[in-house]
Amino acid sequence: MGTARYIWIDDSLRPASEGVVPFLSAGVQYGFSVFEGIRCYATDKGPAVFRMDEHAQRLLDSAHIVGFRELPVSVDQVRAAIHQTIAANEFAACYIRPMIFLDGALTMTVEAGKPRFIVAVWEWKAFLGAEAKDRGIRANIASFTRLHPNIMMTKAKVSGNYVSSILAKTESQRAGFDEAIMLGPDGYVAECTGENLYVVRNHVIYTTPRAGILEGITRESLITLARDLGYDVVEESISRDQLYIADEVFVCGTAAEVIALREIDFRKIGEGKTGPVTRALQQEFDKLVLGRHARSAAWLAPVPAMTSSQLPVLSSL
Ligand SMILES: Cc1ncc(COP(=O)(O)O)c(C=O)c1O
Repeated sequence: MGTARYIWIDDSLRPASEGVVPFLSAGVQYGFSVFEGIRCYATDKGPAVFRMDEHAQRLLDSAHIVGFRELPVSVDQVRAAIHQTIAANEFAACYIRPMIFLDGALTMTVEAGKPRFIVAVWEWKAFLGAEAKDRGIRANIASFTRLHPNIMMTKAKVSGNYVSSILAKTESQRAGFDEAIMLGPDGYVAECTGENLYVVRNHVIYTTPRAGILEGITRESLITLARDLGYDVVEESISRDQLYIADEVFVCGTAAEVIALREIDFRKIGEGKTGPVTRALQQEFDKLVLGRHARSAAWLAPVPAMTSSQLPVLSSL
């Protein structure tokens, strides 16, 4: 993991060593913070952020869902902060983690504290391991149920929601799998711990309905890419046994990108390797994020260069 020299805190770049949150804050104590996971790719024209404004908007939507009345930033400010944090750290490609956390508020109301904004970046390559993209991975059905929106809202990327993801993924890996598939309270497939899920059967692509999942930006991008390639994409409930008899199952997300599930619950899926539809979508996605696809210009936000005079002085270096 490449380490960053700068982090964005509130309204300015700061030395990364200052990137600590107050211990006595609802953000830390109760997981009351909302965040995004975004990727910046090294394109032929320099670093560019994938679906920047959609991610910035989802961050603000998450903050709105959990009840912040006054947001500390606008979409334009999120975009500017992210661009400057990447440029200052001179990363060609990186993972980006903006967050709005509730400072103070130990009496447990939103009004009792103050929302604060941070952006961290780091170099993070293959999230599910280098081999995953090529060979696919092995998954199990988690014993933990995905959150119901009336328990914890799934449209918001709330830090506390990810306790459930960590429980499921830890259980999965301790049992020898790579990733966990979480069923919703209705018993149908919801999503994985940090990815949305697709099934391919008889050349039709199916994915789960939006109500109970995080509306993934990669998911939405792949629906468009798949339709561009001429596939029918159907959003409908998917049962556990429909996974077992699929021709292909794949998952997608900002961190994971596009990865096949070659085995689920000890059952081989299709040919037991990355199938042709998954492979075609992986290739389209790779072209897209590297700036070599017809949709790249619309979906990539190039990072403006920064002069050294725009950088804060790092006395600690
Ligand atoms: C629970 C969950 N589902 C799905 C996704 C995929 O979303 P995206 O493609 O926007 O990264 C993520 C990752 O952010 C996630 O945490």
